[in-house]
Parts: sequence; C-alpha cells; structure tokens
Amino acid sequence: MTRQYVSTRVAGLKPSGIRKFFDIVATMQDVISLGIGEPDFTTPGLILQAGIRSLEKGATHYTSNAGLIELRQALADHLQRLYRVTYNPQGELLVSVGVSEALYLAMTTLLNPGEEVIVPTPCFVAYQAEVIMAGGVAVEVPTYVEDGFQMRPEALEAAITPHTKAVLISSPNNPTGGVASREVLLEIGRIAEKHDLVVISDELYDQLVYGVEHVCFAGLPGMWSRTILLGGFSKNYAMTGWRVGFAAAPEEILRGMLRVHQYTIMSAPTTAQEAALEALMNGAPAVEEMRLEYDRRRRLIVGGLNQLGLPTFEPHGAFYAFPDIRASGMDEDAFAQRLLQEERVALVPGTAFGPGGEGYVRCSYATAYEKIEEALHRLDRFMRRYG
Ligand SMILES: Cc1ncc(COP(=O)(O)O)c(C=O)c1O
Repeated sequence: MTRQYVSTRVAGLKPSGIRKFFDIVATMQDVISLGIGEPDFTTPGLILQAGIRSLEKGATHYTSNAGLIELRQALADHLQRLYRVTYNPQGELLVSVGVSEALYLAMTTLLNPGEEVIVPTPCFVAYQAEVIMAGGVAVEVPTYVEDGFQMRPEALEAAITPHTKAVLISSPNNPTGGVASREVLLEIGRIAEKHDLVVISDELYDQLVYGVEHVCFAGLPGMWSRTILLGGFSKNYAMTGWRVGFAAAPEEILRGMLRVHQYTIMSAPTTAQEAALEALMNGAPAVEEMRLEYDRRRRLIVGGLNQLGLPTFEPHGAFYAFPDIRASGMDEDAFAQRLLQEERVALVPGTAFGPGGEGYVRCSYATAYEKIEEALHRLDRFMRRYG
C-alpha cells in the first residue's frame, strides 16, 4: 500500500493520554485506580427500572431525530426550574449520544475550514480533537491554579483573531474540579459579545458542586442567543454507559446540529432516553445522595494530598482533585508511572489534558472512601521516598 488511506486530519490526532495509561493498568493486579473519569456508583435503581420497563414494553424502535418529545419537554422544564433559562422543546433542544456527540455536532455545525475555537486548558481530552475533526483549529489558552483554573479574560481576548468563531468553556471542569465564578463568566460573555463569538458551554457536571453555585452560561444577560449549552446524564446520574446527553441552542444553530445528528446517529438510544426521563422526573434524591458522598471523599483526598506535601487547589465541582506534584522532583509522567509501578496507584498525568497540566496529576475521587484512604497511605510511602 503506497497511498495513505487515513486522512491527514485523522492521522494527526493524538491518541488519548488516558487510554494509553489505562491499557497498562488493565494488565496489573491490586491497583487502586484514581484514574477513572466516571462515577463508581451503578445507575440508581429507579432509573434502571425505567430502562428495563422500556425494553419490556417493546420500545425498541427509533425515536424522533431530536429525541422523545417527553424527554425534551422534561429537559426544558428542568433547565427552567434550575437556571431560569427557556428552551422550546420543539426546535431548541436535541437529545444526543452523550455530550461527546453534542460536541461533535456543535463543531461540525459551526466551523468552516480553518476557523478557530478557543479552548482553555487543562480540559476534557476530546475538545481539541473535536475541533480538528470538524476542520477547525483549536487555540489553547492555559489556565492557572492562582486563578482557580479559570480563564483569564485578558488571555481570552489576546487569543482572538479574525478567524475565531467560538470559545469552548467547561464548568465544573474536568480535570481541575474548578467551578467558574459568575464574575469570570460575565467577563467571558462581554468579550464574546464584543467579538461576536459563539460560546459552547459544557455543563455536564452541573449538579456536582460543593458549597458554590453552578452558573448556567446561557442564563447570563444577553448570552442565550450566542450559547450552545451542552449537558447530560453521564456524571450527575451515574449513567455513563447509557450514552445520553443533550444540546440546547437557538433554533438556527440547533437546526444545523439536528441535521448532522440525523445523518450520523439518527436518534439517541431509546432505552436510554426513557431512563433519562425517569432521572429528570424522580432522580434528584439519588443525585443528592451521591453528591454528599463525593463531597465526603473530596474532603478526605484534598486534605490528605495537602498533608503529604502535594499542594492541591480546592475543587468545588465534578469529582477530581488536581494536585501539584512538583515537590516529588518528577514530572507528571514519571510521577504517574513510578507511582503505578511502585505503589500500584493509578492516576492521570496532567498533560493528558493539554498544556497547563504540566506539574499536575488528576486524581478522581469517584472511588470508594476506603480505597482513597489506602491510596493516600501508598502515596505517603511514595512521597517519603521522593518528597
Ligand atoms: C467535561 C466533559 N465533557 C464531556 C464528557 C463526555 O461525556 P458523555 O458521557 O456525556 O459523552 C466528559 C467525560 O468525561 C467530560 O468530562
């Protein structure tokens, strides 16, 4: 074969730093994993039951492309109730295969070849790839611990060029656990307005916040008309495997996204949509129970890491702690690899999430309290050797 069959765009995509690492973990025994970016809880029982009932009644067909109207209506009610944002379930909301698909739809719909999307980093591993796959250019803007890993408005402004189409923000953040303040979001909004940018706001972890409020970007004054709001069920409701999320946007944009969705996906899984409807109607107490448990673990891990001499910014959202590991004298890759080999604790090097992750590792506390205690013991031994 002399010809390169894979497009240069796809051939150039970097493999996910997380996958590479966890392929190694999968071959090892007795590893405590703080590496997984998904809830350790099984989906709450009443949501499971709704999925089972859906199958038993024979709901095994496609739904409408945009998703079950009952689910879109429930999503509209939910967003109205929580954030006072109004979306018409007919034309301004679509049910996607997780936020993953919704990101793909947003990028494909917005970007002409070469148009730029500003991506604050560290961030979810798929963001840059989603931009590139849609023919765009991801312009990374690093964030810093001293700002609570929020984007500096002046850094955003400096990254804007005549080709900038959108900015992709995410709060609560994966991997830092940072939650954007209303003030910073207002500043981002002011800049987006000045330069006429679309803001794609990934709010997948919106209900997992601890002692702070989640601000829905679309609810800020004047922002609704330039926002694509992405959200879902994977994290809040412990439903990663069901593959269901949503996008909400002004009709012109949503119509474009729906067209791409229709030709690539057809409709999100029917069983998952029925389960998601139950989650919205009756899932709140289960979410609160899980949130309280994450908060208990959060306090354990953040306190523990700080005590070990690994300075850790207090995360107010999601289920990640992001300690600075430079006191170990190692870089993030060496730290993660040696810790895995010597103490059998898995975590993710910060650079897997882009620039800005140098010197950090991501520890997920979506794992049992006792396992986090044991991981901290092992880290203590490790830091006594290297700290
Ligand atoms: C910030 C963020 N956005 C999107 C996703 C993808 O989630 P989904 O399961 O909804 O596709 C993840 C998953 O880890 C994430 O952390």
